[in-house]
Amino acid sequence: MDKKVTVIGAGNVGATTAQRLAEKELCDVVLIDIAEGLPQGKALDLVEAAPIEKHDSFIEGSNTYDASAGSDIIIITAGIPRKPGMSRDDLIKTNMNIMKRVTADAAKQSPDAIIIIVSNPLDAMCHVAFDTSGFPKNRVIGMAGVLDSARFRAFIAMELNVSVENTHAFVLGGHGDTMVPLPRYSTVAGIPITELMTAERIEALVDRTRKGGGEIVSLLKTGSAFYAPSSAAVEMAEAILKDKKKILPCAAYLEGEYGIDGLFIGVPVKLGKQGIEEIIQIKLTGAENAALQHSAEAVKNLVADLKKLA
Ligand code: APR
Repeated sequence: MDKKVTVIGAGNVGATTAQRLAEKELCDVVLIDIAEGLPQGKALDLVEAAPIEKHDSFIEGSNTYDASAGSDIIIITAGIPRKPGMSRDDLIKTNMNIMKRVTADAAKQSPDAIIIIVSNPLDAMCHVAFDTSGFPKNRVIGMAGVLDSARFRAFIAMELNVSVENTHAFVLGGHGDTMVPLPRYSTVAGIPITELMTAERIEALVDRTRKGGGEIVSLLKTGSAFYAPSSAAVEMAEAILKDKKKILPCAAYLEGEYGIDGLFIGVPVKLGKQGIEEIIQIKLTGAENAALQHSAEAVKNLVADLKKLA
């Protein structure tokens, strides 16, 4: 195919991302992991499914970056999950070092690529990839808001017994407990949910959205969500590959927008072939803005921790 996407990390999120990219026939895929045989095995398995799934995307697995050369997009899912006894700082430090290494290797092979970060802690990892790659800010994008908004949409559809296709939602801010779901901008067939549900029910769905990742972790016990995160990363990749100019909430590097400077945080952006082609500034109420600034403070603290550990 004429487009190539490299997915780094062939674990749950990475492998499912590769599968979704291929089954939508968006591009060829290079799947990279540090574990010997893992990306090769999963890639071959996906290639062998292609005749049944009826697509001609080719998937190649590798432990090195040569095959990734000239990629249009690099999706980074590499990292380790938090293990028992591990502090948050330990996790940040380990994932920061992984992020530095994989970004440097991938950026060298594909200097014109657009990087989509999926690894957590998301907003902090965006800073590492941005600093390490030296890429312009339109080509480093974090996947968070699309996932958080999809969760909110799923809960809205379940609550009102309507098609998920009728739902639209915006979740801004950092990818954590301080995220900012915006009910006023969340709609069903164009009708704001504030006209369809009581304030209590909206607050319950907002709370469930904020804790959405944790809810899955507590059910799975041995890992974190991967179906919805991979769907979200692929929606972003598709918007870029097809130059759709699609408006999606993503973690973007702000330089004054929303009164925030020098920080990656979730805001609505327009995605097209240049990556982030515009940061959309929507009007926020005083309370919504205060919540976004509070979330930005949390991300700032995380980034400060990161700089101390570096
Ligand atoms: N280079 C390449 N791959 C690496 C490296 C590295 N330096 N270090 C770790 N990996 C790989 C691991 O070998 C593993 O296969 O990253 C993969 C991570 O996969 P999982 O443990 O299955 O984790 P997953 O559920 O896919 O989540 C990955 O996405 O949503 C986030 O919070 C999640 O940060 C996590 C990431």
